[in-house]
Amino acid sequence: MPSSPPRHSRAGARCEGDDHKPASEAPTSPSPAPAADVIEAASQPGEDDEFDLTDQSFNATDGLTSVTSSVYACTYECGRRYHTFKNGRYPIPNDDQEQDREDMKHAMLMELTDGTLFYSPIGDRPQSILDIGTGTGIWAIEVGDKFPSARVCGIDLTPIQPLWVPPNVEFLVDDCEQDWLPRDVDLVHFRFVAVILKDIPGTLKHAYESLRPGGWIELQELEGMPYCDDGSMGDDDPFRTLYQLAGQAYAKFGMSATIAARLEPLLRDAGFTDIRCKAFKIPIGVWARDKTMRLIGLYQKTVVLEFISTFAGRPFQALGMSPTEAQVTVAHARAALGDTSVHRYFNYYFWYAQKPLS
Ligand SMILES: C[S@@+](CC[C@H](N)C(=O)[O-])C[C@H]1O[C@@H](n2cnc3c(N)ncnc32)[C@H](O)[C@@H]1O
Repeated sequence: MPSSPPRHSRAGARCEGDDHKPASEAPTSPSPAPAADVIEAASQPGEDDEFDLTDQSFNATDGLTSVTSSVYACTYECGRRYHTFKNGRYPIPNDDQEQDREDMKHAMLMELTDGTLFYSPIGDRPQSILDIGTGTGIWAIEVGDKFPSARVCGIDLTPIQPLWVPPNVEFLVDDCEQDWLPRDVDLVHFRFVAVILKDIPGTLKHAYESLRPGGWIELQELEGMPYCDDGSMGDDDPFRTLYQLAGQAYAKFGMSATIAARLEPLLRDAGFTDIRCKAFKIPIGVWARDKTMRLIGLYQKTVVLEFISTFAGRPFQALGMSPTEAQVTVAHARAALGDTSVHRYFNYYFWYAQKPLS
């Protein structure tokens, strides 16, 4: 990983946090002690067409960074494009459809957090920020715009980032599970990445070494398991079954779909202190009483409907499922999502923690 420019340090301020207990590896009930409130359901469920999700402002632009030709190598399976760098070990496509989906997730989280890009208290004039697994680079670009004092570096295995970016933002192709060269970093940010990593302890250790004393790490992660607080989702719910199977499939790739709920001990073991967590429940679909939560639920349902078809590719192949069996499993889950009387939600966890000052 390339080195970062020199940094002028700032001490981080404290902020409030929540206690958090770890969830089991394959949870069948809600994760213990998330800080999020129960989502109140509407007496009459909403309609998807209440909102227009065709706003293009979150779409990534075209263009690529200057990298060697081998990192562009792709393969096509079941009509989707996969990246082949590092032997294609990332089982999720990197095509336009997936990039649009990632940007919609960004829009959803901006709605959820009222535009909060991160919770780490790094002050107003950070000098160096890393965005690990930057994807389309949308988070890095917005952070670069908001903090002109900072050099923002987005790092990803796959070169899908735009060319035209703020002058303080750059993108690099690299593997975050290998050694890191940047030093004196104020903030290392991961979003929707922990689930993909094979060696989280090693990656957190790299982040720790790259941070300046007093610098912050932040991981914004989805727990890949649907939950329900009012009993409307049965044990045999097809959508829940799909995610249980997906969890087994991801494990075959050395990934844990539910790691988001269990990052606290990993952060502690890596040496971080002042570990904090903000947990949110995001409805899947338009069943919430609150209008903003209905919009967020529509975003969530839209991104999940696009995503679950990818389970029928590499993940379910890894479980030995036939293509037909895989497609039928996904189709049942897709149909189940149309039932707004089932109040499913996902847990999102925003973990942030500090490298000790001394
Ligand atoms: C789900 S996307 C998240 C994108 C972005 N963080 C966001 O929230 O918009 C995960 C990204 O991590 C990248 N990735 C996976 N493994 C990686 C690794 N070992 N090193 C660097 N990037 C990696 C993938 O290529 C993908 O772009």
